[in-house]
Amino acid sequence: MTQAPILEIRGLSKAFGPVKALSDVHFELRRGEIHALCGENGAGKSTLMNMIAGVLQPDEGDMLIDGERVSIPTPAAAQRLGIALVHQEIALCQDATVAENIYMAAINSRRAPLMDFQKLYADAQKVMDLLAPIPVRIRVADLSISNQQLVEIAKALTLDCKVLMLDEPTAALTESEAQRLFSIVRGLKERGISVVYISHRMAEIFSLCDRVTVFRDGRYVATDPVAAVSPDDVVRKMVGREITQLYPDKLATKEPGRLLLSVEGLSDGHRFAEVDLQLRAGEILGIGGLIGAGRSEIAQTICGLRSMTAGNVALDGKQLRPRGYGDAVKAGLVYLSEDRKGSGVFLDLPIAANISALDLARLTGPLGLLDRKAEDRQARELTGRLGVRMAGIEAAVSTLSGGNQQKVAIAKQLSVNPKVIIMDEPTRGIDVGAKVEIHRLLRQLAESGVGVVVISSELPELIGLCDRVMVVREGRIAGELGAGELGEEAIIMLASGVQDSSIQRRTQNVA
Ligand SMILES: Nc1ncnc2c1ncn2[C@@H]1O[C@H](COP(=O)(O)OP(=O)(O)OP(=O)(O)O)[C@@H](O)[C@H]1O
Ligand SMILES: [Mg+2]
Repeated sequence: MTQAPILEIRGLSKAFGPVKALSDVHFELRRGEIHALCGENGAGKSTLMNMIAGVLQPDEGDMLIDGERVSIPTPAAAQRLGIALVHQEIALCQDATVAENIYMAAINSRRAPLMDFQKLYADAQKVMDLLAPIPVRIRVADLSISNQQLVEIAKALTLDCKVLMLDEPTAALTESEAQRLFSIVRGLKERGISVVYISHRMAEIFSLCDRVTVFRDGRYVATDPVAAVSPDDVVRKMVGREITQLYPDKLATKEPGRLLLSVEGLSDGHRFAEVDLQLRAGEILGIGGLIGAGRSEIAQTICGLRSMTAGNVALDGKQLRPRGYGDAVKAGLVYLSEDRKGSGVFLDLPIAANISALDLARLTGPLGLLDRKAEDRQARELTGRLGVRMAGIEAAVSTLSGGNQQKVAIAKQLSVNPKVIIMDEPTRGIDVGAKVEIHRLLRQLAESGVGVVVISSELPELIGLCDRVMVVREGRIAGELGAGELGEEAIIMLASGVQDSSIQRRTQNVA
């Protein structure tokens, strides 16, 4: 007799009002396997995880643990069944310390420590150190996004679980942090723990997972052993069509357009110094570098989100000295933050209101009244262009899947018809098919005369999309690569400052 799977989902359906998030789906998790769950943005992956974790209730269908039908009415019930979920969105208590966050879950469960704080801190540090040397006594608010993600994972590791579900755990991690996570996940598998792994990165799925299940539009498509399929097969099952061209054509003309953004000698007296940058109409400029090299800080300073101590910024020939982000937006310069919660979107507000939030003045009539019709028209046009999957533009952003929230964050920046747009990790959490669409849109924007700057941690994205890539190393421009010189090794060498290709393996947290 074969052993029953540790977790089985049969004929499960879930609707949110008119939106059918899942229809009659199946899923089977075997003991000690790492099982990838794939699908486009909005396919229903997180919804299924939330049902297994007791956050949401199914409308129909069965969930079985060890062959027994169970109901999972609350997250506490899921914990008692040995199920742990690392959510796609970071949901830590920002004012509490790392240790308090790590043990928040355990405190609520049977493994509650008896408020021995010394021990709590020591234990939390032990778990944290498995992932990264983050001091557990500091406040979560003071951590970078990638470190917050690691705290979320540490939190799940303290639960004594049989089933661990990771919903896009690496979306905000560096390559080396991701590798560390993979070795931990493999170790859990050795100990017989079963893992559900959600990711849009095919390479990860193929190096880590045993089997892969694909959902499309809330329906079950297939389950295959990873060894029996190719990444192309999986993508085809996800999007229901062949993706022939991953990246749009590059800048057709060699004639440089007019100078749109010029930065000279920019310093913030702290993280970076003497940064020069020139962006011409028609081109997409990439910015690469190691995580922590100062790429985001440079972009934020150019856009008035941080203050500068020296240097000049000119936008379309005019000197720009923004006192805040609002000034930059007014001048036609926008920034898409890598942290969509921090400065991207307001979760509780409707999609339409989010998209118009940057530039209400333009939609406001002479009497100070917001022109709702114009707001709606703009929201419809932009969500259509970006292919946002939603019930309607009046729906709250919190009802969207993670990738679709990212598209709303992009739509918000585009709504002001910017002259220059600087995008920090624009396709994080975006599925393979939508990524192609977003890249095409960025190319169209460039062709229509908008200056586009893309900061990315994905080398293939920098190389495939950009006409030119500037590499930042320790707060300085280490060099620049033109179209003919773009390659992974060239970027890595500039980013690390080491003239040796053997470093490639050691410095994978690059770009
Ligand atoms: N609370 C909610 N209210 C209304 N609709 C919702 C809600 N939660 C999810 N949905 C809808 O259910 C569908 C499935 O969303 P889900 O978050 O499961 O997608 P996903 O596969 O995780 O996508 P992504 O890759 O973008 O994270 C989407 O159309 C989404 O808009
Ligand atoms: Mg999701």
